[in-house]
Amino acid sequence: MSKADVIVGVQWGDEGKGKIVDLLSGGYDMVCRCQGGHNAGHTIVVEGKKIALHQVPSGILHKNIINIIGNGVVLCPAEIIEELKQFGDVSGRLFISDKAHLNLPYHAQIDQAKEKAKGAHAIGTTGKGIGPAYSDKISRSGHRVGELKNPEKLCDAIMADFEANKAFLDVLGVKAPAREELLGELKSYEAALGKFIVDTTHMVWEAIDADKKILLEGAQGTLLDIDHGTYPFVTSSNTVTAGSCSGIGLSPKNVGEVIGIIKAYTTRVGNGAFPTEDMGEDGEKIRDIGREYGATTGRPRRTGWFDAVGVRYAARLDGVDKFALMKLDVLDGFKKVKICKAYEKNGKIIEYFPSDLEGVKPVYEELEGWDKVEGARKFEDLPANAKAFIKRIEEITGVKVGIVSTSPEREDTIVR
Ligand code: IMP
Repeated sequence: MSKADVIVGVQWGDEGKGKIVDLLSGGYDMVCRCQGGHNAGHTIVVEGKKIALHQVPSGILHKNIINIIGNGVVLCPAEIIEELKQFGDVSGRLFISDKAHLNLPYHAQIDQAKEKAKGAHAIGTTGKGIGPAYSDKISRSGHRVGELKNPEKLCDAIMADFEANKAFLDVLGVKAPAREELLGELKSYEAALGKFIVDTTHMVWEAIDADKKILLEGAQGTLLDIDHGTYPFVTSSNTVTAGSCSGIGLSPKNVGEVIGIIKAYTTRVGNGAFPTEDMGEDGEKIRDIGREYGATTGRPRRTGWFDAVGVRYAARLDGVDKFALMKLDVLDGFKKVKICKAYEKNGKIIEYFPSDLEGVKPVYEELEGWDKVEGARKFEDLPANAKAFIKRIEEITGVKVGIVSTSPEREDTIVR
C-alpha cells in the first residue's frame, strides 16, 4: 500500500505551487485536486505554449498520469468544458467525483451580489461562486456532480430551489433561469462531462492498494482555510493538508510526504489582515519584479515581507516535512531583506499566530540582501546572504527548505 504525497500552500495562496506540481507530477501515477474550484489558477508554459489550469489537475500535462477531481471540489461545468479544450481527448485520463458539488452560474451571481451588498466590508472574493456553492453543500441544499446524469430531475430540483429561496434571491437581484434554458445547459454539461463522472473514492483506494504513486495537489493557501485562516477573509474550503484527505476520501494514515510551498515574501489578494504588508516602495518593487497579479482575476496582489510567524503556524497545521521556497530571485538586488519573527500587540510580543490579527504589528529581523540568485541551480552557488536568509527561515519555522526556486524556468530549481 502506497502513501499519497501532498503539496500545500503555506501562505495566502499564489505561492508558486504550479511550478512545483509541474516539476514533480511527472513522477506520479495519479494527481488529485481535493478542494476549491476555479478560484484557483496557474499558468504553465509547455514548449512555449501557455496553458491555464483552474480545475483540471496538473498531471493532465503528462500523458501517462490519471487525474482526479475529488469530492471536496466545487465544480463549475461551463468553465471546465472551456479549460479542457486545451488538451484534446483526455478520456481515460480524467475522472470527476460524482460526489463533488456543482458550482452553477447562479452561484457566481449570488457571490457577486453579496460582495456588492457588503460594500466596504467585502471579502474580495474571486466572484466565482465558491462561497455560495459550498454554502449550499453545507446547508444540504447543494447538488452533486453525479446528478448531472439525470438532467431533467436536476433541473426540476434547481427550479424548486429558486422557488424556495425566492425572497432572498429577489433582494440580491438574482433571477431564476428559464426552465428550458437551464435544462439545455445541464444537458450540454452532461454530454461533455458525463464520461468523466465516476465514484473516484474507489479509484483512489485501488491506486493506493496497487502501490501507485499519488499526489494531492492543494489549492489556495493555509491562511485562507475556512477554519484556521483569517476568517472571514478566507475561502470556503479546508485548504490544510487534512482538507486534502477529506476532499479525496483518504485517511490521514494514507498521507506520505507533505511539501509546503512558500514564497520568499508574502502576498495576498482580497481583503483581510496582512501584518507584513508593505504599502511603500519595497512592496511595489516586489509586485513589479514578482509580477504579482492574480492569475484568475488579474487583480494586483498586496505584497509584503516574509511572515515566519504565519508560516510556522501554517506548517504545523499542515504537517509540512519540507518547504519549497519560491521566487527567491524576486528579492535580488534589495540592500536589506526582512523576516517577521514575532508580532507585537499593545506593547506585548506575541510569538504565535493569534485567532484575530486585529492590531497586530510585525517585529522584523533585518538581514543583508544579495545581488543575484536568479538562475542558480546548486545550493553552493547561492550568495552567502541568500543562504543566511534561508537558514533563518528554517530556524524560525523549524522546517527544512528542501527546494529553492530561482526563476520561473523549470530547470532553475535547487533540490537539496
Ligand atoms: P473565494 O475563494 O473566491 O471565495 O475568495 C475568498 C478569498 O480567497 C479572497 O481573498 C480571494 O482572493 C482568495 N482566493 C481564492 N482563491 C485564491 C487563490 O487561488 N489564490 C489566492 N487567493 C485566493
